[in-house]
Parts: sequence; structure tokens; C-alpha cells
Amino acid sequence: MTKTLNDNFLWGGAVAAHQLEGAYQAGGKGISIADIMTLGDRDHPREITKTIEKDKYYPSHVGIDFYHHYKEDIKMMAKMGFKAFRTSIAWTRIFPNGDEDAPNEAGLKFYDDLFDELLKYGIQPVVTLSHFEMPYHLVTEYGGWSNRKLIDFFARFAHVCFERYHNKVKYWMTFNEINNQANYEDIGNVLKNSGLLFKKGDDKEKMMYQAAHYELVASAEAVQIGHAIDPSLQIGCMLAFCPIYPASSKPEDILFSQRAMDSRLYFGDVHVNGEYPNWLKAYFDRKNYHLDITKKDLQILKNGTVDYIAFSYYMSFTAKYTDHMDYREYQDLVSNPYIKTNDWGWAIDPVGLRYAMNWMTTRWHKPLFIVENGLGAYDKMTADHQIHDDYRVQYFRDHIKQMEKAVIDDGVDLIGYLPWGCIDLVSASTGEMKKRYGFIYVDEDDHGKGSFKRYPKDSFYWYKKVIASNGADL
Ligand code: BG6
Repeated sequence: MTKTLNDNFLWGGAVAAHQLEGAYQAGGKGISIADIMTLGDRDHPREITKTIEKDKYYPSHVGIDFYHHYKEDIKMMAKMGFKAFRTSIAWTRIFPNGDEDAPNEAGLKFYDDLFDELLKYGIQPVVTLSHFEMPYHLVTEYGGWSNRKLIDFFARFAHVCFERYHNKVKYWMTFNEINNQANYEDIGNVLKNSGLLFKKGDDKEKMMYQAAHYELVASAEAVQIGHAIDPSLQIGCMLAFCPIYPASSKPEDILFSQRAMDSRLYFGDVHVNGEYPNWLKAYFDRKNYHLDITKKDLQILKNGTVDYIAFSYYMSFTAKYTDHMDYREYQDLVSNPYIKTNDWGWAIDPVGLRYAMNWMTTRWHKPLFIVENGLGAYDKMTADHQIHDDYRVQYFRDHIKQMEKAVIDDGVDLIGYLPWGCIDLVSASTGEMKKRYGFIYVDEDDHGKGSFKRYPKDSFYWYKKVIASNGADL
């Protein structure tokens, strides 16, 4: 008999609060770091402004107005047969500034209503606590995650969320794509991950390692808090997984690509093993980085290891050794002649997904959860409101095939598959609406103009069929 995925496999989709909710001040919500990022595009990075400026457009302020449309959106997801829906809790709806003693009831109530609406259709909410949307006040007053105090603020936020929603939400994640900041020269990455705004002369790499350490400790504390409230909770980490292939079979390239993977993924080692890998401790010594890492921190890391590994998969990288073994993501990548890219230059590599799943299983021996995967593309709506996105269907078909091979042929333990932006939303990197991922089209342009009506794309009907057949009918 041909083997298939488990019957309880979680098919669904994923989003993040700041990319779709809009209503950026409703119910007492505070300003998050996403709320000070303007619209950019592929060639122009999003601007990070100190305050909200009147003549600039900030896409998170509008999102796709999910805050007011969520009932109709969830109804469409239920039509596709979703079993799970991943979103994040906007920290600023619960603690508008981040450092208050008591939470904001209006914010808590919003997520109660949202989760109830999902559960009404038998859709499990899957929740990220921090997805690129920390309170901006924590950046201006405390210097973001460069400050140890953030650990307590985050622990309080996590505590309130676990306490309030543990009967409604089983699967949790602490920090979204915590490892993007490995590329610390990208100011968008370090702001989104750690709330860091570098000044001239700052040692960016050292600051990134310190901030990431505090986040890893905060994550481990959150795991312990969640388990103490409800031992049945599954609390995971969340990594952006981009395999980094060697540019050739030259031994130096092989070793270099291994070090590159280590550099991007040590975050996972700490989350899963509860300790820093030796190569990194040696690196800190070599660089003379005396980070604030206490004995107590190391104990917290040990006691707060994660239950599963959630990850995003969009693309693979290829690294080439030149004259140094310490990987620098901003300068050491080359293009891969075997792989095509999308309109934003992201490598499309379905086989890399199978590689990723095997790599993580061998290294960490934990269940995996694909909580992002998808194709950002320009979609066209016809006069009669059809969207013929056969390119998206092809992308998903190719990736799901590889995912199934990893599970069925290679024995990888996979909880579910939640493709990114199951409904069109604001792009995190560019702020555009026209970089669309969804099965559901939202009639809105890059400047927040449009009818905001929702339309199923061709991929909507295709994905419905995939879910109904538990991945057999691709
Ligand atoms: C991941 C993020 O990096 O990729 C999401 O977790 C993001 O927030 C997604 O939206 C796709 O990236 P982009 O830049 O195309 O929106």
C-alpha cells in the first residue's frame, strides 16, 4: 500500500499581524516597529522613520484591514478546508508600549474573538508571539534587544498570552525567523528581529550576537512559563531555513558552506540543545567578544528547550570561499546556475526543501513544522474577477511533492504545512501589496487604495483539492 501523510496532518496557511490587520491604533494599540516602516520596492529599501510622518505611506497602518474583515476571510479559509491558521499576536495590542504592568483588555479580546472564529470552523490557531512587530517604545527607550530588561518584558507578554489562550491555542512559536539577523548588515533585518538601530561606529556583529542572546534566553523562559501554565502546550522556535550550498566541490567551498549553515542556524542549536555550539564559543574568543552571558542564562537555556522546530522555506543560497572562513552573508553568496529566481530575485528550489527537512531532522531530532513557503508574484485580475495563477500552483505542487518525499520516503516527522500569505498581504521586505502570495486575492494597491474585496484565485480551488485528498491529488 502506498504510504500517505497522517490523517491529522495540519494543512492551512500563515500570516502575521502587522502585515494584514491594519487598524494600527484601534482598541488602544501602540506603535510597533512595523508602523514606522514606509513603502519600498525591490530596488528601494523601506525607510525607517523616527516618527510617523504625515506625507509618507506606512503599509502596516492599513494592512488588508483584516481587523475588520477577519470573519469573511476565515470563512474563505474554511472553504479551502484549512485545519490550521498561523498568525501572530501583535505585542502592541496587548502591551502598547511594551513596559506596562497590566495588559490592554481590548487587545486581548480581539484575539479571543479571532481564535473563537477559527475554532468555530475547526481551524486550529497556531501563534507566533513576536513576528517583526515589537513595541517601538522599547526601541526608543531601551535600545531594543540590546537591553537585558527586554527579557522580562517579553516574559510578561508571553505569560499573559499563554494564560489567556492556552485552551484555544496548542502550537506556539517564540520569535519569527530569529536567524535573519545573521545578516547584520541588513538594517531591516536587525530592526525587525531585535529592534536595533545602529549608530556610526557600532560593532554590528557583536551587537547582533548580544541581542540574539537575550532573545534566546527570553524564548527559553517563555517555553518554561508556557509549560508551567499548561504542560500540553507545544512551544517551538522559528527559523528561516535557506540551505547554503557550496559553489563547487572544492574542499574549501564545502567547509565554507558548512560554516555558513552553522552561522545562520546556530540559533536553532541553542533553541534545541540549550547550549551554544563549540565553534561559536571559539569564535567569540577569537573575536574577543565578551558578551553578557551569565551562568543563570545558560541554565535557563538548558531548561527551556523547544518542543518542535517551525521554519520558513523560500529559497536556497550558494556560498563561495574566497579568502576567509568566517561567513559574511552580505558578501559571500553567488548565484546558482541550476536554479531560477522569482521576480524579486529569490531562488526557486523545491529540492532544497527536502534537503532542509532532512538536514534539520539529522541535526536536531525534533518534529518539524513548515509555517511558511510560497511564491511572491505579480497577479492580474481579469474583468470578471478571475486570477489565473498557474505559476503559483506549479510552485506549490513542486514543493509539496518534495515535502511528501521527505515525510514518506525519508521518514521526517512533520506536523503540518502552512504556506505563507494564504491571503494577499503586505510584503515584509518591501511593504508592497503587489508582491502577492495568496490563494485569496485582495483588491488593494501598494498605497492602500482599492475596494478591499476578496476573490478566490485559481490556486484557491487547487489547494482545496490538495487538502481534501490529504496531499494525494496535486
Ligand atoms: C518571511 C517572513 O521572511 O518571509 C514574513 O516571516 C514575510 O513576514 C515572508 O512576509 C515573505 O517575505 P516578503 O518580504 O516577500 O513579504
